[in-house]
Amino acid sequence: MAGLIPQSFIDDLLARVDIVDVIDRRVRLKKSGRNYMACCPFHEEKTPSFSVSQEKQFYHCFGCGAGGNAIGFLMAYENLDFPRAVEALAQSQGMEVPREQLNEQQQRQQRQQQDLCALLEQAAHYYRQQLQRHPSVGRAREYLQRRGLSEAVIEQYGIGYAPPGWDNLMQHLLQAGWQESLLLDSGMLVDRDDTGRRYDRFRDRIMFPIRDLRGRVIAFGGRVLGDEKPKYLNSPETPVFSKGRELYGLYEANRAKGNLPRIVVVEGYMDVVALAQYGLAGAVATLGTAAGTAHLDKAFRYANEVVFCFDGDEAGRRAAARALEVSLPALRDQRQVRFLFLAEGDDPDSYVRARGLESFTTQLEKARPLSEYLFEQAGQGLQLDIAEGRAGLVSRALPMLVRLPEGPFRQQMFIDLSLRTQLDVPSLQQMAAGVEQRSPAPVAHARAVMAGDDEPEVTGSGTGQEVVVQQPARPSQSASGPRIELSLPESLLHLLLHYPHLHQQIVPDLPRLRQGADEDAALRHLVQWVELLQEYPGASRSRLLGLWQGRHGQEGGERLYALAGKEHLIGSELLAARQLQEVLARLLATIEHETPLERLIAKSRQQPLSELEKHDLTRLLQDSHRRR
Ligand code: UTP
Ligand code: MN
Repeated sequence: MAGLIPQSFIDDLLARVDIVDVIDRRVRLKKSGRNYMACCPFHEEKTPSFSVSQEKQFYHCFGCGAGGNAIGFLMAYENLDFPRAVEALAQSQGMEVPREQLNEQQQRQQRQQQDLCALLEQAAHYYRQQLQRHPSVGRAREYLQRRGLSEAVIEQYGIGYAPPGWDNLMQHLLQAGWQESLLLDSGMLVDRDDTGRRYDRFRDRIMFPIRDLRGRVIAFGGRVLGDEKPKYLNSPETPVFSKGRELYGLYEANRAKGNLPRIVVVEGYMDVVALAQYGLAGAVATLGTAAGTAHLDKAFRYANEVVFCFDGDEAGRRAAARALEVSLPALRDQRQVRFLFLAEGDDPDSYVRARGLESFTTQLEKARPLSEYLFEQAGQGLQLDIAEGRAGLVSRALPMLVRLPEGPFRQQMFIDLSLRTQLDVPSLQQMAAGVEQRSPAPVAHARAVMAGDDEPEVTGSGTGQEVVVQQPARPSQSASGPRIELSLPESLLHLLLHYPHLHQQIVPDLPRLRQGADEDAALRHLVQWVELLQEYPGASRSRLLGLWQGRHGQEGGERLYALAGKEHLIGSELLAARQLQEVLARLLATIEHETPLERLIAKSRQQPLSELEKHDLTRLLQDSHRRR
């Protein structure tokens, strides 16, 4: 913390520089009328919508909404914090940045922070050295080798080893002349008040230094070599380390690659390191804590897209619900958040080592957008084909939507909610105003909803009465045939998602359905879904979807969620059962007579294909080309 930069200096600096020069040196500008134009450096585009006004000394992108003055541009373009951007700009003008005098307390604080960082740097150096030469380092080396870490990545992340013993680091640092009190402040010693004993916090652990954005070591994480508990130990909060704000790996990622396509937030140190080793730029982790707003703000300084990656277990889903909540207020401009769930038992580390970067990147690209995930969460356990369910969706979704900042994305989400609930946007907005006034209660409510506290079970077999809500069937959804935009297996899945116990009618035909399942993803998902229903009769839909993700990961999950979110407007179970029989018969006929590719091509000649079908068709065509 250097002294503050006086505002008068900033004004002076901005008066001297010309924003056109500053930007033109980095992004080639072309004069156009009174302004200068270029393709925006902050988002992908082919036609220029990035404009710079010499007169106003301002830049603005009509495409992504980015904008600011010369200092703001440098901050965004070169990933600098404010003082650094001012320094860079001043330097280009040959100016020295003056600092306001700090008061005595501020000076003391600043000195202490500098000392702490220097001490921690030395500790990191010591740990790195021990990994080269400590007599008992064999086990640590062996461990790193077993985990598959390359020399290069060990070097890049400054990974080291804290040897066994109570006071190795303490003795080393005391001998180097550091005060014991500073060692305590740094968090590297544990102080047992009761016995007065002080000893090294990290013993016999693999050490991961945690660096701030300038690359200064501010804390450590340490992993045991075996199964002892706790598996990971982190530095406590200190004057230089606050875990609620730091992202492990951000400095290294940014240093390795200037412009990151996206930030991938994973759960652990090993995940970050493994992904980096396999060549993924931009993996970061929170430090044994849930992602918070400060983490997200930090991440969004480096990329417009953040993908949260979770293990496919219950803990992962809980973490995702929380990540959703903290993301909402951050979603302005072009920012995007997406969610990736790995299969139960997998984490990014194990995934990328088993299946490689390309496969992981594919998963990232398919990760669920926040918009989808939000409605899926809010709609959990609700039957959207009845008024009660749609009303429930409104009251669960609105408290979340109101937390979005004003802008096009918020608008889109209201339109989306309107489509899902058949309430018009103005009514929804009126209700939202009411919700906003009552906040913060909605947050607590949303949390309860996310935790599944009030999730009703989907009716199981035998209690059919509860699902039968008589409603005039719409002409297009009469029992005479499936809704045209769904493929046959999708129609069946759709029916089963709303009337789970009807799966019993499909069970006898499973062997025949399996014949085509290898080639046709939708059909395979149908078979697997029926198998799941057989195994877990009476389970709620959300539980089933959870089990599905545990078993198959993302594969097919999107399709299921899309179908689950799609209303089913057949008013009665009886009609649904009839429809199921009809569709099943047609499906069996096609499986036995044509390949899925033939079927989709034939269908595409008669009517437009659904998005899912187009996706299947593209894949099948690619496969058939590859086979040739
Ligand atoms: P995991 O146990 O899922 O980590 O904890 P991991 O990276 O998969 O571990 P290994 O090395 O591959 O077995 C995820 C993160 O949670 C924090 C750490 O930040 C860890 O990286 N954590 C975990 C702790 O802080 N303490 C613990 O005891 C365990
Ligand atoms: Mn792991």
